Order: sequence, then C-alpha cells, then structure tokens
Amino acid sequence: MNAKVNISNRAGASFPVRRMNFDFDQVPEYWMNGSAGLTHFMTGLSALFPDGEKLFIDAVRAVRYYPAIKDNEELQKEISAFIGQEAMHTQEHVNFNASAQKYGHDVRTLERITGRYIQFALSNFSKVVKPFGMTREMVNLTATTALEHFTATIASELLRNPHIQDLMTDDTMSYMWFWHAVEENEHKAVAYDVYEAVFGKGLKAYSLRTSALVFAMALIFILQSYFTLRLLQQDKKLNFKELAMIYKYGYSPSKGIITGMAGEMLAYFKPGFHPNDLDTVQLLKDWKAKLGF
Ligand SMILES: [Fe+2]
Ligand SMILES: [Fe+2]
Repeated sequence: MNAKVNISNRAGASFPVRRMNFDFDQVPEYWMNGSAGLTHFMTGLSALFPDGEKLFIDAVRAVRYYPAIKDNEELQKEISAFIGQEAMHTQEHVNFNASAQKYGHDVRTLERITGRYIQFALSNFSKVVKPFGMTREMVNLTATTALEHFTATIASELLRNPHIQDLMTDDTMSYMWFWHAVEENEHKAVAYDVYEAVFGKGLKAYSLRTSALVFAMALIFILQSYFTLRLLQQDKKLNFKELAMIYKYGYSPSKGIITGMAGEMLAYFKPGFHPNDLDTVQLLKDWKAKLGF
C-alpha cells in the first residue's frame, strides 16, 4: 500500500480527518482483478466524486451559520470534520482519476460531465419545487443528504461484501476505497442532522428528501452506467465477458454490491429515519483496526 496517513482531530468532532497521500503511480491499468469491466465500473464511480463531494461541502457550508445551528457547538465541530473528510476524498479521487488518464482512459471529461449534470439537475429540480416554498439551499442540502445516504450504504456494503473485497487485488486501490468507505460511515449523519435542524422534520422536509433520493438515484445510475460503457468502448473492451462481470458483481442477487444495498436504501423512506438507525458501529471498529487507524 502506497500511502502516508496523517490523522488530525483538531476539530474535536466524533471522528478525525485523515490526510492521505496515496501514490497511484504503480497502480496497474486493470487494478480490479485484471478486469477492464470491473475497473471501469469503479472508475465510473470515482469520476462522480470530485464534483459530487464539492456539492456536499458547499451545501453544508451555505447553511452552517443559520440561527438554528450557529450556536450548536457540537454540530459545528462535526460539520468542520465532515468538510475536512470530504475535501480529502476529493483530493485523492482527483489524483487517482488523473492517474487513470495516463492509460488513455479519459476520466477528466467524465468529471466535467458530472459537474455540468449536477448543476443542470439541481437547477431544474429547484424550479419544480420552488412553488412549494422550497429554496435552492434546501434542494442542495437534501441532494446532499440523499447522496450521502447512497455513499454510506454502498460503502457499508463494500465493507461487508467479501466477493467485492476479493476482487480488489491492488493494495493501494483497496486501501483507498476502504478508507473512503469507513469515513463515509463515520460522517453519514452530519448533513442529515444539519438538514433536520435547519429545515425541520415536517411533511415538507420529508417529501423533499424522499423525492430527492429518487431523483438522485436515477441520475447516478444513468451517469455511472454511461461512464462505464463509455470507458469500455474507448478502451475497445465493450464485450459480453466484461458486461457479464459487471452484472455478476454489480447487480446479481447473490454477489452484487448494488443489489446488496437495496434494503438499506429503502430505509430512507421511513418517516422517522435517521442515518444512525443503520448500525455500523462494530463494522467500523473492525475495519479501523484492520486499516491501522
Ligand atoms: Fe466522501
Ligand atoms: Fe460523505
């Protein structure tokens, strides 16, 4: 594993910010078990992170000094650590995405497409919900809570699914994804707590957060599938064998990472839902020990 870990908990939050410094130079082209399909599937996800995580940071920052939470010292510390962790994730995914570029995989264009689609989706969604008194800040924040639920859920599935872990045959890449997965679960409640504290738990807040989840999941599915197919096609590896691998480890009922997270995704629709209802305490304890945190 090529990484230096620098852990800081100056914010005094319930979780630290770990400054990583991965060296992606030695990562092989098809680092996911030698499979182009599986590698591009993960690269398609990685392309979503730089602009996605920028949205999360900006959305929480935009409301952090609202009267409802500005004097909540505990939540302010959690927000600072949340911003710190997401900023580190962005930095490492940007570096990994740039390193994939050297093999001729055009991830930079995918990052740009992600940025454009996020803005397009948010501005159109905001127009639709504006007549119901929902502001752009509320939309940005609930897009964040929806996507944070997605990232925490896919992350905990990754930490539980031995079939996927076995395929992560490169030490640097597996460490990066496990580190990110642990932290997504450490901070999974922060944006949600901010949303409820600022915009409440009423019918309006509930209908916005649930419709945002449906909308956000459709967008992620379309973008990530398009990215995977585009990377495969540019790589001249778009064939039945690679697609079958993606189906088996992405979508099959027994081994798929996406199918494995379906139940927890649906929990978000419960009226009294809170991210900590999905218990990952022991899972995180085990993984932090394994990763040496
Ligand atoms: Fe993240
Ligand atoms: Fe996150």
